[in-house]
Amino acid sequence: MKNKKFAKYFKEYKWSNIFAMIRNNRSDPKICDNTYDGKLVVVTGATSGIGYLTARKYASMGANLICVNRNPEKSEALKKEIVGEFAVKCEYLIADLSKLDEIHRVGNELSQLKTEIDVLIHNAGIYLTKRETTIDGLEKVFVIQYLASFIINYLLMDKLKTQEKARIIMVNSEGHRFAAWGLRLDDLNWEKRRYSGLKSYGSAKVAQLLSMIVFNEQFKNTGISINAMHPGAVKTETGQDNGPGYRWFKRNFIDKTLKSPEISAEALYYLGVSKEMEGVSGKFFNLTTEEEPAPPALDNEIAYELWEKSLELGGLHGLKQ
Ligand SMILES: NC(=O)c1ccc[n+]([C@@H]2O[C@H](COP(=O)([O-])OP(=O)(O)OC[C@H]3O[C@@H](n4cnc5c(N)ncnc54)[C@H](OP(=O)(O)O)[C@@H]3O)[C@@H](O)[C@H]2O)c1
Repeated sequence: MKNKKFAKYFKEYKWSNIFAMIRNNRSDPKICDNTYDGKLVVVTGATSGIGYLTARKYASMGANLICVNRNPEKSEALKKEIVGEFAVKCEYLIADLSKLDEIHRVGNELSQLKTEIDVLIHNAGIYLTKRETTIDGLEKVFVIQYLASFIINYLLMDKLKTQEKARIIMVNSEGHRFAAWGLRLDDLNWEKRRYSGLKSYGSAKVAQLLSMIVFNEQFKNTGISINAMHPGAVKTETGQDNGPGYRWFKRNFIDKTLKSPEISAEALYYLGVSKEMEGVSGKFFNLTTEEEPAPPALDNEIAYELWEKSLELGGLHGLKQ
């Protein structure tokens, strides 16, 4: 069964947005040359791909880092590399962002930091071709790609508002357009329909864009911005959690068409640091070019319904914000 709203969304699709996306996919990101000495940047999933190069980019411009990673060995190696090369501070918090208790722990630890967080980058993500569930019984892509960022943002709201200045950037994707029929709030867990990697990935990214609508409202006039971006189609370790067939196909076909994730890191630096981005919030960027997301990601009514569901699924009901 398609989402009941599909007919409404269908009328709202604009070819011009698709052409803009195709055009923007060929563009390079805008570059920001300002340094970022002594600022604090939090990046999730900094042990590989886009997160890794983004952490290096910010460190190379003088920022201190807190990386939220699942792998202690990779985290220690990253810390050594960054401190050795750039002489900045690089701490890490270990958390498996598919597990609700670990997401809460990390959100709470970040919210209790005495230091201000200048930029928070939600980057960690996976792509699965087959449905997997987490220890909490939730569909895994939905949790890592969406619910983790929702919970951490929610737990950090008070701290960030007190700071009166911070930028949140969510690494989203043009892949949100794969969820062309919209979000199925009655089946966020993918139990009532056939699972598809592209559709579940697209849905989780749509959910994140919908959450941006409400967070943006919550952060109005506070000095906190929240934006989402597509990091380009870039060659990373994504897809490694799938079977050998998929990995072979990715290595031999998909990877050959992809760009270097250096462009993603440059874009994430520009969005986090540049003066041009001051006061810009609630927007979706293809690298550094603003785009209109697909209609299902702009649905205010669903955004508020999803907010309520996310509070419930994320175990946040009853926590004061
Ligand atoms: N690559 C692209 O073309 C592309 C396009 C659009 C959007 N994106 C988005 O970009 C983001 C980064 O992806 P990537 O391409 O750089 O992939 P990647 O190389 O696989 O990096 C993913 C990062 O997320 C971490 N991670 C995965 N599962 C985690 C978990 N349960 N808990 C904590 N950390 C976890 C990984 O840790 P490990 O090192 O331990 O595996 C790694 O650091 C994702 O949100 C993805 O959807 C990528």
